[in-house]
Amino acid sequence: MGKEDIIQEGITEIIRNLKNISFEDQTVLITGGAGFLGSWLCDVLIKQNARVICLDNFASGLEGNVSHLLNQENFKFVKHDISQPIYFDEKIDVVMHLASRASPLEFDKFPIQIIKANTLGTWIALGIAKKHGAKFLFTSTSEIYGDAKIIPTPETYNGDVNPVGVRGCYDESKRAGEAMCMAYMRQHGLDVRIARIFNTYGPRMRADGVYGRVVSRFIHQALNNKPITIFGDGKQTRSFCYVTDQVEGLLRLAWFDEAKGEVVNIGNPNEITILELAEIIKKITNSNSSLDFHPLPPDDPRRRCPDISKARRLLKWDSKVELKEGLTRMIEWLKF
Ligand SMILES: NC(=O)c1ccc[n+]([C@@H]2O[C@H](COP(=O)([O-])OP(=O)(O)OC[C@H]3O[C@@H](n4cnc5c(N)ncnc54)[C@H](O)[C@@H]3O)[C@@H](O)[C@H]2O)c1
Repeated sequence: MGKEDIIQEGITEIIRNLKNISFEDQTVLITGGAGFLGSWLCDVLIKQNARVICLDNFASGLEGNVSHLLNQENFKFVKHDISQPIYFDEKIDVVMHLASRASPLEFDKFPIQIIKANTLGTWIALGIAKKHGAKFLFTSTSEIYGDAKIIPTPETYNGDVNPVGVRGCYDESKRAGEAMCMAYMRQHGLDVRIARIFNTYGPRMRADGVYGRVVSRFIHQALNNKPITIFGDGKQTRSFCYVTDQVEGLLRLAWFDEAKGEVVNIGNPNEITILELAEIIKKITNSNSSLDFHPLPPDDPRRRCPDISKARRLLKWDSKVELKEGLTRMIEWLKF
């Protein structure tokens, strides 16, 4: 099986799981469409015969994620920074606003661009939705909960975030983005939906430099028998969701009428420690990498696990792909 086959199988699986949910004949604007999650959304929507406008400035996304779609009649790519104004003449039915750098290593290097994408960018994307009377999906994050005191964390938990710490650029701008979505709903009656995404991994997640996130970085290090970088003692927990489950959840959230004005956690509730993650990846890759311990960055949450009962009820969605299965698929993809 080749690199592309792993992605194509995933797309087929998402469409099968979506059953009768289809965006056929709708025009969907995806900001951040050349990124990890955005490019999967582009692929699924093009397969469903939707018209897709993919907007991205390649801050952290890659042209290669969507280059195979450029010759499709229903696909249009617009290179643009969403924190700057932009207008579209064609009628847009759904706006999915994903544009934002998302790797913790980027928080240190690009805090201003992150704040602009989630505040000015959300404002501009909401303005487009308002002009077109389109539905609006905002991709927020589990980071808005900070170091959560309730585990598994329900949507009703309001968070505990340090506004002036290094992570503040991301956490607080996502919180402001959420508030702006609700303001547009209350003041202009806009149909908004907010996804609080918990750690998601899979093919197309970058492993290089500051773009690498914990799963892609560990796999890359394990495959190359390099030391695996662990921050802190590795006893902090995370819950990892495979990309096909996440993309299905986002599309369900954009679809159901009942989800208007709702904020929904989307993630996998299987909580494991970072040390356990490293050991599982070492085993699957048959690696002899050592573990290399570094100081824990400030405000790093000790535990993270979503309560997904709302997604189960409202979106008739559940996470399906087990961690070992998802990691095996991602490792195969990264090997090529
Ligand atoms: N993957 C996860 O685990 C996760 C978890 C929580 C939230 N999210 C959110 O989901 C969204 C997508 O994340 P991802 O994992 O695909 O990350 P990603 O970095 O792969 O994708 C983000 C995309 O947005 C683009 N972008 C950034 N700033 C932009 C700007 N100003 N104008 C236009 N394009 C811009 C990047 O070039 C990239 O293609 C982000 O908003 C992120 O905060 C992701």
